[in-house]
Amino acid sequence: MPSPGDIQYTGAQRNKEDIVDFFASYFADKSRPLEALEIASGDGTHVACLAEAFTHVTWTPSEADEAIFDALRYGLSTIEVQRYKKSPKPPKRSSQFVEAFDICPYLILNIHSSHIEEIRSLRLMWILLYYRSRVNDLANVKPMLELKIDTGCDLPNHRNAFDIIFNANMIQIAEFSCKEALFALVAKTLKTGSGSRMFLYGSFADEGGAIAAESNRKFQAFLKALNPNFGLREVGAVVAVAEKNGLVLEADRDMPANNKMLVFKRA
Ligand SMILES: C[S@@+](CC[C@H](N)C(=O)[O-])C[C@H]1O[C@@H](n2cnc3c(N)ncnc32)[C@H](O)[C@@H]1O
Repeated sequence: MPSPGDIQYTGAQRNKEDIVDFFASYFADKSRPLEALEIASGDGTHVACLAEAFTHVTWTPSEADEAIFDALRYGLSTIEVQRYKKSPKPPKRSSQFVEAFDICPYLILNIHSSHIEEIRSLRLMWILLYYRSRVNDLANVKPMLELKIDTGCDLPNHRNAFDIIFNANMIQIAEFSCKEALFALVAKTLKTGSGSRMFLYGSFADEGGAIAAESNRKFQAFLKALNPNFGLREVGAVVAVAEKNGLVLEADRDMPANNKMLVFKRA
């Protein structure tokens, strides 16, 4: 059975240190306890690193994918583990498959493959192992919330609750309406004080929809093949939605590998 350290294919594994470094300037004052929500936590890589690096911040991870909850709540079923044990070699992968894995293991379920069940099991096993080894024992990580960002979504028990809301690599892999729903939720759940911030990390399109970086053009093609409504969003369009919800852009920071971190605060 692989250990979490053996599987290092997620984007989060590549960018986690850059993200922790970025947050260091924002979380410099460790004497003030902070509450943070992560939206679309995936396998928990970011929440694990951030919670270890910033112990004065209490993190609430969240996810929309029900399979992740089933894995975390109940563990993988014996059947799934047995199947993996019987065939421990990775399945033969097509080039599309390898690319999909490199870019986003979360999208594997959307790709036709005769090995879909094995991949699903592997992905869930990875998340379960990672969570057990890295996240479960962290005192400053709360249980994962089930949260799908969709029109009208809400966290009624978390009004003005968070000093920090962090979302990475989600709005491009979702319908257009997802970014509207995201900022509507942020407007309700971010604390009203001047110190609260929303951090949005990912790849974005340039102004006018052009995409200069080759890696981002490849990513765009991949997303469009999955769903024509998916794709890199323009920073300007995201800022406009934020402003409609009472948030303004405070910083637009270039990050490694043609990513960006956008920082929003209340207007
Ligand atoms: C590319 S992964 C990013 C995971 C993690 N944030 C990271 O950067 O590694 C996209 C994540 O967004 C989640 N997701 C997609 N649509 C969502 C939605 N409408 N609401 C909440 N999560 C969503 C998926 O389940 C998946 O975990």
